[in-house]
Amino acid sequence: MAKEMRVGLSYNDVLLVPKRSRSASRRDIDTATEIAKGVTLNVPFISANMDTVSEYSMAIAMAREGGIGIIHRFMDIEREAGQVRKVKRAEGYVIEDPYSIGPDETIEFAKEQMARNETSGFLVVDKANKLLGVLSHRDIMFTLHDKKRVREEMTPRDKLIVGYPGMERNRALDLLKKYKVEKLPLVDKGNVVKGLITAKDLHSHVSNKMSSKDKKGRLLVGGATGVKGDYIERAMALQDAEADIVVLDVAHGHSDSVIEAVRKLKKQLDIPLVVGNVATKDATNDLISAGADCIKVGIGPGAACTTRLVTGSGMPQLTAVMDCYEASSRQKIPLIADGGIKDSGDITKAMAAGASAVMFGSLLAGTDESPGYFVRRNGVKYKAYRGMASFGANVSRRKMDNMDIDPNELTQIVPEGVESSVPYRGAVKEVVSQLLGGLRSGMSYCGATNLKELRKNSEFIMLTQSGASESYSKLQPT
Ligand code: XMP
Repeated sequence: MAKEMRVGLSYNDVLLVPKRSRSASRRDIDTATEIAKGVTLNVPFISANMDTVSEYSMAIAMAREGGIGIIHRFMDIEREAGQVRKVKRAEGYVIEDPYSIGPDETIEFAKEQMARNETSGFLVVDKANKLLGVLSHRDIMFTLHDKKRVREEMTPRDKLIVGYPGMERNRALDLLKKYKVEKLPLVDKGNVVKGLITAKDLHSHVSNKMSSKDKKGRLLVGGATGVKGDYIERAMALQDAEADIVVLDVAHGHSDSVIEAVRKLKKQLDIPLVVGNVATKDATNDLISAGADCIKVGIGPGAACTTRLVTGSGMPQLTAVMDCYEASSRQKIPLIADGGIKDSGDITKAMAAGASAVMFGSLLAGTDESPGYFVRRNGVKYKAYRGMASFGANVSRRKMDNMDIDPNELTQIVPEGVESSVPYRGAVKEVVSQLLGGLRSGMSYCGATNLKELRKNSEFIMLTQSGASESYSKLQPT
């Protein structure tokens, strides 16, 4: 006897019914959200932890625009933690642990370290971390003799303007302006370095009100871990690097091994743990019971995914979000709708269905800030985008683990994703601005001024095929 069968819906199967709007302008609409206790974003957008999407440049750009980036885990632990540190250093009222160098190092070494850390200068310190000077990029730009010592080229301590720990922002700004300096080392009474304030960071602290920042004014960032091998060590390294959130991310999150991993991680981690991916109420309940602080939803909706084709398993994304929300809302645990977002309208639908944020891969892979290079085909710029379960990603992972690549074994790989490319889309800022504008408009059409109202007031209507085709523009773009 045939079992009763439910209907599963994806974003394209529905529209949101227009409602009376109370907001005079899109600017009145508040898109702030909490993706886990204490982790608040002004813009509910997250860049996917994929190796063609999120490394530190993407994470910096996303946080500056009010969202957050999750650094992918397909690199060694030290490098992933290092990427988190780079985001944390990118901005912030005070850099607590500034890059430093010893006075007897060579200029050659200093140049190497500047390039490696992508920094424009070092504090020069002795073994007790006492300030001896500052060596900036400009000091050594024209130094031809690379064997010279740092102490010969640095600006010495007696010529430096310094501040003190706990200095107020305005006071620091006054000093930087008055003496026209870019860096203000903070030292205690014993001349021991306690931090650094830079003109660039102070400026961005003032200028970008939407950006996602921690209590110290640094950009928010997350890092991903898995469920095998050194996943606990990786998560702890991310926490030590001061990541704001860890994402335990595997293709099929509803499994005994994931539940066990969540339990273990929750015993050690002090920062919130996002867990996924899943697509059902049962999975959501099980992961929340194990301790997950946020659930990531999506089995197979992504642009580079072939899981549904290869395995026959998956869940249309809108229904997946709604089902998971039924379980998560009872326990006040947020959801992230991950994958399958093609337009801003899909974002409004995901948020109306219960998501607290959306995660994108393909929409961000073609930006300036994603890893990798552009290629040109027929005069058009593209950037690579690949599923993390694609053949190429599998091979890269083996290389990363220093595994021998036996050609016979490669035939055993069953990819669940594809390797492709996406068109160039400009800077993250431009992409986010368009998507956010669309979300705000969408909320206004639903009569909502914030995301809570959107979830509460919105009403979906299911489409027929002609309704769906009516939604697309009937004109060819010129
Ligand atoms: P979009 O649609 O934004 O989706 O490009 C991004 C999400 O896709 C998931 N992902 C995969 N799913 N096979 C899959 O079935 C894969 O190889 C794969 N790689 C990424 C992931 O959840 C990501 O955030």
